[in-house]
Amino acid sequence: MHTHICPLGLSLQDQPREREMGGWRGILGFEYGIVLAPLGPDISGPELVAAVANAGGLGLLRAPDWESPDYVRDLIRKTRTLTDKPFGVGVVLAFPHKENIKAILDEKVAVLQLYWGECTEELVLQAHQAGVKVVPQVGRVEEAKKAIDAGVDAIIVQGREAGGHVIGQDSLFSLVPRVVDLVGDRNIPVIAAGGIVDGRGYVAALSLGAQGICVGTRFLATEESYAHPTYKRKLVELENTEYTDVFGRARWPGAPHRVLKTPFFQDWRNLPSHENEANQPVIGRSTIHGMEKEIRRFAGTVPNPTTTGDIESMVMYAGQSVGLIKEILPAAEVVKRLVEGAQLLIHQRFNSEIPGRSKLV
Ligand SMILES: Cc1cc2nc3c(=O)[nH]c(=O)nc-3n(C[C@H](O)[C@H](O)[C@H](O)COP(=O)(O)O)c2cc1C
Repeated sequence: MHTHICPLGLSLQDQPREREMGGWRGILGFEYGIVLAPLGPDISGPELVAAVANAGGLGLLRAPDWESPDYVRDLIRKTRTLTDKPFGVGVVLAFPHKENIKAILDEKVAVLQLYWGECTEELVLQAHQAGVKVVPQVGRVEEAKKAIDAGVDAIIVQGREAGGHVIGQDSLFSLVPRVVDLVGDRNIPVIAAGGIVDGRGYVAALSLGAQGICVGTRFLATEESYAHPTYKRKLVELENTEYTDVFGRARWPGAPHRVLKTPFFQDWRNLPSHENEANQPVIGRSTIHGMEKEIRRFAGTVPNPTTTGDIESMVMYAGQSVGLIKEILPAAEVVKRLVEGAQLLIHQRFNSEIPGRSKLV
């Protein structure tokens, strides 16, 4: 008997049964199992989220780190002018967020993504009453267990390879299968995050038992991302990253992050632990989520297109696979290459008969 697993490229419209069942490619009703990570502070804006949504992935906006419910509503509405597909919003629970979450639920987006804080049963219930799915990003098995107990709809598992803030210590290779085993036969898709930039990473994540991937750095380096052009250029030029705590120590203490090894970072990577951005010189200015901000040296905010000043000395988050990124692409092209790359890989590498066994693909 031949077991047939459908290739990645077919659209869900062709496979109504797969859509009903959630499928192994699409998650939470989205066409593909590809999630655009919320990119703080304002890098995954309406243009990028809409581009990913229109390409069949799940795009996540990023809410401000301060209460600004009207602004959040505007962000969501602006995104709706660019796509009629569903999308979500990410909230970092380490910062004030109650009013923002209320606005997100009032607007009934598809998904509320949560990070760096407790995803309570109460919050999950509240979201479900509004018809919004809850998807936390976790970095430890214990955190995944709490999320399952709280009744979440999917779990993003973040490995230490990830760009931006990194909540755990384990690599994806060890963490994803453990969370997959923990989830067992519950209908909670596991989504792998960290160092995935192409079809190879996508297939590897599927092999580990994940049903989807959450991609940050590869989507940072797209035409639609709200990163400053210099930051995008550095993502293409530089190949190495480091796990550090040099940036944003005062504003977000105890929050390590993975950054590009820029010349500025190399000079300051051993910053004494008592130093932080609070008493440093102002090196630039930025408008972040509509607010004018001074950027001090060692601040944790990446440059966006409004940023002026010494851009090269600002933090530039990136994941470990940044060395595989060779060009800035439209976000839809990133989605297409992930899907087609994974599809091709499965067909070329895993399509052979195992003697005496049934054909797998
Ligand atoms: C610039 C940048 C900003 C990020 N901001 C957030 C955030 O606000 N909330 C969050 O949950 N994750 C954030 N992340 C982490 C992502 O959710 C994800 O774990 C990571 O991007 C995956 O690794 P990759 O960058 O190698 O794809 C950020 C990542 C980057 C690169």
